[in-house]
Amino acid sequence: MKRLSERLGGPHLWIKRDDLSGLAFGGNKTRKLEFLMAEALANRCDAVITAGAAQSNHCRQTAAAAAALGLSCHLALGGSPPGVSNGNLLLDQLLGAKIHWCGNRRKGEGLIEIEQELTSRGLRTYVIPYGGSNLLGAAGFAAAMVELDSQLKKSGIRADAIVFASSSGGTHAGLMAGKSSTESEVRLLGIRIDKDEPGEDSFESQIASLANQLAERLDLHDRFAPADIVLDSNYTGAGYGIVGDLEREAIRLMAETEGILLDPVYTGRAFGALLDLVGRHEVGPDEQVVFWHTGGAPALFSYAESLAENREPT
Ligand SMILES: Cc1ncc(COP(=O)(O)O)c(C=O)c1O
Repeated sequence: MKRLSERLGGPHLWIKRDDLSGLAFGGNKTRKLEFLMAEALANRCDAVITAGAAQSNHCRQTAAAAAALGLSCHLALGGSPPGVSNGNLLLDQLLGAKIHWCGNRRKGEGLIEIEQELTSRGLRTYVIPYGGSNLLGAAGFAAAMVELDSQLKKSGIRADAIVFASSSGGTHAGLMAGKSSTESEVRLLGIRIDKDEPGEDSFESQIASLANQLAERLDLHDRFAPADIVLDSNYTGAGYGIVGDLEREAIRLMAETEGILLDPVYTGRAFGALLDLVGRHEVGPDEQVVFWHTGGAPALFSYAESLAENREPT
């Protein structure tokens, strides 16, 4: 991102465009669904069930994958039906997904009930956990890291750091395992999007545990401790999905300077964090940094009120 790098006066910024990965406007879930949907087909399932927030990118991409494969798709979404559907929710509906509204349970707490109901109707179900972040889903990101490593090598770029949004942990765990398989020295810097749920293991422990399962399955020699997971938790702001100045300014800067659209919940926050770290000299002006665009732009349309500004472009 030449223009943006010049505008900031460094670091040298690169971008990995998973927002262009296909499946209904792209995103990082294409990586996970490649493996998860293969298992659904291998198990001869006819219905896929997953969960997320009302504006979940994971749910929108799962609905697209299911439609393309001729499977039915059931989504357990947090919240209640809005008067008018827009953003990802509108796309879920256009893609033919059946929506089950789950109130304040947006992380898959309602999956078992839906599964039981469909099974009792004779359907063969395939349940994908929140965010697609299990062993198979994370495997998609181990493969993605191998892909990026080979692209960097071919282009002669020695990246110092990769910065990305981390929320349900599959992306982060997969990148850790993939990095170990490539023996790359790059620093993986996850930007935390969501706060800890009370009573859960720390997010670092969850990521390390998933990365270890994957390392074992892939026969890698490295194993990970929670302390190996580099996660910046300083940018969760007012909470999940609440847009503030950090996200607004990052989205606008990227759009104005590079013509690339970030999303309000994940990549806007993660890129805002990177800009702040640059401003604080925690990321140096001579570093080579890859920002992993993990998708999500359809959600922009459901955040019109928080994002709209009546000011002249800079
Ligand atoms: C656009 C976007 N970026 C990043 C993430 C985070 O990925 P993960 O859940 O694997 O941590 C998500 C997950 O929901 C997402 O939708």
